[in-house]
Amino acid sequence: MTLITDVALRRVLDSRGNATVEADVHTESGGFGRAKAPSGASTGEYEAIELPVQQAIARAREDAIPRLVGEVYAGDQRAVDAALHAADGTDDFSHIGANSAVAISMAAARAGADVAGLPLFQHLGGTFRGNTFPVPLGNVIGGGEHAAEATAIQEFLAAPVGAPSVEEAVFANAAVHETAADVLADRGVACGKGDEGAWAPPVEDAVAFEVMAEVVETVTEEVGFEIRFGLDVAAAELYDAEAGGYVYGDRVRDTDEQIEYVADLVDEYGLAYVEDPLDEDDYDGFARLTERVGDRTLVCGDDLFVTNVSRLERGIEEGAGNSILVKPNQIGTLSDAVDAVELAVGAGYDPVISHRSGETEDTTIAHLAVGTDAPYIKTGTVGGERTAKLNELIRIEHNA
Ligand code: PGA
Ligand code: ZN
Repeated sequence: MTLITDVALRRVLDSRGNATVEADVHTESGGFGRAKAPSGASTGEYEAIELPVQQAIARAREDAIPRLVGEVYAGDQRAVDAALHAADGTDDFSHIGANSAVAISMAAARAGADVAGLPLFQHLGGTFRGNTFPVPLGNVIGGGEHAAEATAIQEFLAAPVGAPSVEEAVFANAAVHETAADVLADRGVACGKGDEGAWAPPVEDAVAFEVMAEVVETVTEEVGFEIRFGLDVAAAELYDAEAGGYVYGDRVRDTDEQIEYVADLVDEYGLAYVEDPLDEDDYDGFARLTERVGDRTLVCGDDLFVTNVSRLERGIEEGAGNSILVKPNQIGTLSDAVDAVELAVGAGYDPVISHRSGETEDTTIAHLAVGTDAPYIKTGTVGGERTAKLNELIRIEHNA
């Protein structure tokens, strides 16, 4: 193992045109790693704190870099991440910023892989991991916080559960995305795209369900394996306690009605996946829905768990959900993200490694998914910052 000799931080662009943090980590043997922080728009209340980029960089330079340079081995990820926590001194990275922390954590992992001469997924997972590939869940139609004047439900996702390979799955999702535009056009609906490249049509959710059902059937016939679809309801964004529940345009559903609504959707459309169907504080609602439909669909907590082991522990105790979304920047380091994956797997929860709506060409999550044998990854269908991850998965599958 070789010591970290330099950490450089800079401001670069993300896919929304906002600033984000890029980190370079160098080691004494000439090892090098580079990574960039993503950024959410429908962020959970309990996520680690993203600071304004210049502030995050200044504070990390002042307090974190001196604890890393000449002190920590790049390949010792636990030590890197412990140094980041020690430098921060809070429980939510509000001092150095989760954006600085996650960029440094991921760049150090890359440098560690470089020193070891291993692909990142193998450095992260070891030699007995990395033999299974995640099913890519791809956002095809969406609205919510990612596009104005579109659907209330944030994401309608293709789920190519029967795909024989990552490569086939990635192309199936692209075909679903393309076919969805055709079906929308046939209905006279013209639309642009939201932050993740999904179509953002000005239609009621009911229309999006019809379109998705038609499209996955069509593309399933074309490709010859099963494609289902799923949702990220991002219900915390719809929930308004004063209004008495979940606000869908003119209609408000209380918690019982929301559970009923989502459970009916699962059965009517054979949904493979339902993320954040209830508010980020509603463990009980998650548990009730999981009790009803958890044997036939994934009930995934994103804003509920925020990749946080303590919140996941509570969910496991209460039977809330059967799946967790894992976003390294929600918790600030790769070690914390891997801890969440391992706790989840041990409790029978399926981890879904995920991008954010604001992304870069960084491919770390593709390696994290393969290196942890995660059964799913959520990283869009088209657009350069999404295809960066998807194409990396194809390369990993081909040992390229
Ligand atoms: P975000 O959206 O990155 O804007 O939080 C993604 C999600 O909610 O899963
Ligand atoms: Zn989500």
